[in-house]
Amino acid sequence: MKITEALLAEHLVFHNLFDHIEVTAPRLKTLAEIKSLAALMESMLKAHSDTEDELFIGPLEHCFEQIGQRDAFLVEHQEIDDNLKRVQEAKRASQACQLLLAAVTYSRKHFDKEERIVFPMAERFLNSKTLAALGQTWMEQRTRMTV
Ligand SMILES: [Fe+2]
Ligand SMILES: [Fe+2]
Repeated sequence: MKITEALLAEHLVFHNLFDHIEVTAPRLKTLAEIKSLAALMESMLKAHSDTEDELFIGPLEHCFEQIGQRDAFLVEHQEIDDNLKRVQEAKRASQACQLLLAAVTYSRKHFDKEERIVFPMAERFLNSKTLAALGQTWMEQRTRMTV
């Protein structure tokens, strides 16, 4: 499997998670419930963003620099993580909910940018052997995480 296919498949799971959070979070009554939803999103997203940082930035460094997006890519991952950490500091359920929904909106924009710009760029600039080798590394990383 190509790395772009693997990451896109993960995106589909996140789109479902984001839909679920947007519907459920406003209905949750307690601060603890909202925080636990945010913690789930945080840990799932962290693994995804780390993979992109590790496997994508290196081979695509030139391309990212050409379109002026190298730092933006890393900064956005950090921003997503910070947004979700902020939910854990909230003192009221309504505030936590607002922060969580803002984090989801921000993440959606980031995902959209990757799907429109970054993944097609990877498919254009990396040959199929490299895409498959990175996909294999992704597979090994994910398998290791489950044992
Ligand atoms: Fe990302
Ligand atoms: Fe992504």
